[in-house]
Amino acid sequence: MRTLIFATNNANKVKEVSGILHEQFNIRTLAEEGIDIEIDEPFDTPDANATRKAETIKSLTGKDCFSEDTGLFVPALGGAPGVKSARYAGDTATSDENIEKLLKGLNGQPDRGAYFKTVVCLLLRGKKYLFSGVCKGNIIAERRGKEGFGYDSVFLPEGSSRTFAEMTMAEKNFFSHRRKAIEKLAGHLENIDI
Ligand code: IMP
Repeated sequence: MRTLIFATNNANKVKEVSGILHEQFNIRTLAEEGIDIEIDEPFDTPDANATRKAETIKSLTGKDCFSEDTGLFVPALGGAPGVKSARYAGDTATSDENIEKLLKGLNGQPDRGAYFKTVVCLLLRGKKYLFSGVCKGNIIAERRGKEGFGYDSVFLPEGSSRTFAEMTMAEKNFFSHRRKAIEKLAGHLENIDI
């Protein structure tokens, strides 16, 4: 089976992405490549941050790879937390603290619309490809569910009465931003011999 490095340290992302690509690709994680680094995300777009992650791993391994960067964008908060989603409540913030800050910011706010956006960056044979996926929904006032990670417990995707954290991984993948971006990656790779 064909092998591709996924430039992430996030085990939840590896699980979701492997769940989508497992029939086509053997996904190798950074840990499996013996790489233990935290890649910074200094830019203000997911495209630029995803590119930074993939280029960092390409330069360390010399191998083709893909990365992804995801943010939760809330228009009523001027697009925050956006590319700062992991560090919304501070550089060492936990998901719980990030959610707390998000809920406080939306307190009394009638417009609770939000969307996740994922950008996947593939570096293949000297070329760069970007694929994106969006999932629209709403931020609910109290956490619901125990599955998933990040902001899943307060995100209700459009067309569902359950939050991402109340879904199985397969159910989340039906709606998710990441699945949409990864399927575009898979479609692109389908006919390429790697
Ligand atoms: P990253 O910069 O792509 O690693 O992701 C930034 C942050 O966004 C993560 O630390 C999570 O808090 C959040 N996040 C990313 N993807 C998801 C998701 O699918 N559900 C909920 N939160 C997510």
